[in-house]
Amino acid sequence: MHYRRLGRSGLQVSALSLGSWVTYHNQVDTKAATEMLAAAIDAGVNFFDNAEVYASGQSEVVMGQAFKALKWPRLNFIVSTKFFWGLSREGNTVNRMDTLNRKYLSQAIDGSLARMGLDFIDLVYCHRPDPHTPIEETVWAMSDMITRGKALYWGTSEWSAAEIRAAWDIADKHHLHKPVVEQPQYHLFHRKRVEQEYARLYEDIGLGLTTWSPLASGLLTGKYKDGIPPGSRGAMESMGFLGASLADPAKKAAVVQLDAVAASLGCSVAQLAIAWVAKNPHVSSVITGASKLSQLQSNLGAVAVIEQLTPEVMARIDAISAPLAQ
Ligand SMILES: NC(=O)c1ccc[n+]([C@@H]2O[C@H](COP(=O)([O-])OP(=O)(O)OC[C@H]3O[C@@H](n4cnc5c(N)ncnc54)[C@H](OP(=O)(O)O)[C@@H]3O)[C@@H](O)[C@H]2O)c1
Repeated sequence: MHYRRLGRSGLQVSALSLGSWVTYHNQVDTKAATEMLAAAIDAGVNFFDNAEVYASGQSEVVMGQAFKALKWPRLNFIVSTKFFWGLSREGNTVNRMDTLNRKYLSQAIDGSLARMGLDFIDLVYCHRPDPHTPIEETVWAMSDMITRGKALYWGTSEWSAAEIRAAWDIADKHHLHKPVVEQPQYHLFHRKRVEQEYARLYEDIGLGLTTWSPLASGLLTGKYKDGIPPGSRGAMESMGFLGASLADPAKKAAVVQLDAVAASLGCSVAQLAIAWVAKNPHVSSVITGASKLSQLQSNLGAVAVIEQLTPEVMARIDAISAPLAQ
């Protein structure tokens, strides 16, 4: 495993990490999560991603139960969570928040700490931007969360470059804890934000990245080439919004071509796709996802593929995927 600084912070995260979206509570119970976390840490993974909204808080419960069973020294692992929607994105219930105001943020952290059974969270993210709360209020609330000892670092997820810079400037001006990381979607078919929009932020403010969906929800494994297999994410009713992307004929054809590139390197197309994300020096950690231990074990093999991505191989991958990328 390789370790990289989270942007300009001193925190060293593993180049590959493991997240719990869709999987924990729905596909992965506490026993399976415990086995997968153990396998991940054995392979050198030290960072585990979660969010308050995943499975309406139950993903944090599952991860917390697994941590309890594993009894790892707290110094050996980094855990994150994210705030914005509250405990549910469904409907207009009392649980749905869609805010980054001070009241919500200062209470949300306590809920996550209780569900995970932890004294502090290493890394907390604002899961989306909130156009209805002044960025200044959010920056003060996130910085206070750190000052109160409930979190150690903070960052954003899917914020625009302008919003990230505004938050950083406010923190700088008031000597507050600055955002150190952004969590954007980044994979072979989704590139522009990381490669173009954020380009100045890496040098200017030392922004780190923990990127999500390296396999485009499984499309980049090749498993969707003949339709939606039963038991896959694409077959889940709640994931219907992924349907168009998973069935896109041009992307499916590109995955077949990428599979041939992977075969020439002796790896799977999934390993190639994950290694390609990790190859970007601005990426601190690639957050992977897995519904089964075997997927995780295979995906972790991507670490060995990173160095095989020579300029010539990168050019072959680019020729296939770049024309389709957003
Ligand atoms: N900040 C955000 O807004 C945001 C958004 C999304 C995700 N994330 C984070 O990023 C993490 C990773 O995202 P993701 O789960 O979408 O990643 P992904 O790598 O794009 O998709 C993972 C899914 O693909 C399938 N898969 C993975 N490896 C496979 C293999 N070797 N063979 C066959 N199928 C395989 C599994 O689904 P099935 O087996 O069910 O098909 C697995 O759950 C999340 O857990 C979360 O922590 C953050």
